Amino acid sequence: MTAPLVGPVPGLVLDAETLSARAALHGRAPAHWTRPQQQLFDSPFKLTVWWGANGIGKSVALAEVTRRALGGLLPWQTTRKRTVMLVGNTYKQLGVTLEYLFATVPSSWFGPKIRFQSGMVKGQRMPVYDVVGGPGAGSTLVLGVFDAENLAGPRAEVVISDEPLPESVHNELWPRLLGRGGRMYVGFTPTLGTASDVQYLWKLVDDPSLPHVGEIHTPLTLDAVTPRGGLVELPWLSARDIAEHEAGLSALEADMRMGRSRTPRRETAYFSAWGPHLIRDEAPPVGAVVGVGIDHGPKPGTQRAVLVASARRGLHAHLWVLDEYASTDRTTPRGAARGVIDMLARSGLEPGDVDLWIGDRAHHGDHRGGAMSNRAFLEAMAAELGIGTERRGWTEQLPASLRHMKTPRKYEGSVWEGSLMLHRLMVDETPRITVSSRCTLLHADFAGWQGSTSPSDPYKHGLDGLRYIAVPLLEGRSR
Ligand SMILES: Nc1ncnc2c1ncn2[C@@H]1O[C@H](COP(=O)(O)OP(=O)(O)O)[C@@H](O)[C@H]1O
Ligand SMILES: [Mg+2]
Repeated sequence: MTAPLVGPVPGLVLDAETLSARAALHGRAPAHWTRPQQQLFDSPFKLTVWWGANGIGKSVALAEVTRRALGGLLPWQTTRKRTVMLVGNTYKQLGVTLEYLFATVPSSWFGPKIRFQSGMVKGQRMPVYDVVGGPGAGSTLVLGVFDAENLAGPRAEVVISDEPLPESVHNELWPRLLGRGGRMYVGFTPTLGTASDVQYLWKLVDDPSLPHVGEIHTPLTLDAVTPRGGLVELPWLSARDIAEHEAGLSALEADMRMGRSRTPRRETAYFSAWGPHLIRDEAPPVGAVVGVGIDHGPKPGTQRAVLVASARRGLHAHLWVLDEYASTDRTTPRGAARGVIDMLARSGLEPGDVDLWIGDRAHHGDHRGGAMSNRAFLEAMAAELGIGTERRGWTEQLPASLRHMKTPRKYEGSVWEGSLMLHRLMVDETPRITVSSRCTLLHADFAGWQGSTSPSDPYKHGLDGLRYIAVPLLEGRSR
């Protein structure tokens, strides 16, 4: 975020000295806020649910609520010494909000040792920080992640979350908060990843007998990204930025990510930009990185492997889906290994030419299971390559990249982030993904998947195999 300087205030001359003195005491937040952001700060509700599009300044404003809460500066706060809890799904995700907070709070607030560095607050082991300077001296900032025991203990007057709380966490924190006359601020963008989990929240918001629970609903419009009150009011996104952002989204969840709907569109293919124009047999450039992604399937005979190549990174990354392999219910592990070796051979490759191998079972939560499936695959590959597996150390004889075959990185929402990444490749004027005519199963998967993560979804496993390998390659993690 570029933190604008404190802007001109009518009737008040703010010279540089006054400004820096003010910044040293209060920190340097954006000078102007959008209407929805201001609505959040002024919210009359005990539980404020702010839901809306990505990119409308929710995290920035929730960090500002945290700053104000610590400083005792929210309109309803009567005493200054406050315990403020900032909670999130993971410390990594909390880091987003914390980065904004530490960009605006002067270092004198938390003392010289505490600092924000590499995505996290550093300088102390316990995530409980005393405010020692500024208007909120005596307050405490408590950080916590949803599954941590530390959420069960401490009391707080203000709870702030940049993601929806799981119902169990909400039920744990809410009564304690109310007992102390406290308040809760929750902000999020509804996505396919959260859709099923926030029903309890919509129930609270929609219940007319709970007037102290309220929502702020903000779709992505120019108004939502225009800070108000400056001499000129300039949105930080243009109408074109907004249109391009929407074009990249899957039709299934565009209304959610644009902040227009709480629920996904029904009966819609996730890959709405998929089409036969993306089916091309194009050779990747020399020097492209080659990878194989494998989904071992929920039961024997449902294994899928995908061969891809990628070049460049980030916004310019390009993906070539070169080939696929699918087992049948009669395939032995050796047969699957042979199938993968044949797949490579059709592109003129050998196992040692592959830069990155990623494999996992289709079902989640069983990491040993995933590792065992990879192990079984490696053993079969070794046998196919003429390496005797009865002797210890046989893995040493495998090509290095195969020996170091990994399981995919999984985290809350990784399915949706990965799928969105693939979808975005399809929507550019010159699409950045081509899928070989050989990959007929994947063609059907792209056309048919409606976002179900059920292991019995027939379209899911091939796309899983593709995602496992495509995401690290697109992010430039090739080893
Ligand atoms: N009040 C503001 N003034 C200027 N820019 C802002 C303001 N609020 C947000 N922004 C800009 O919008 C970007 C996105 O904000 P963020 O809070 O991360 O959005 P969200 O959490 O809703 O996805 C920020 O990086 C910043 O550049
Ligand atoms: Mg955010």
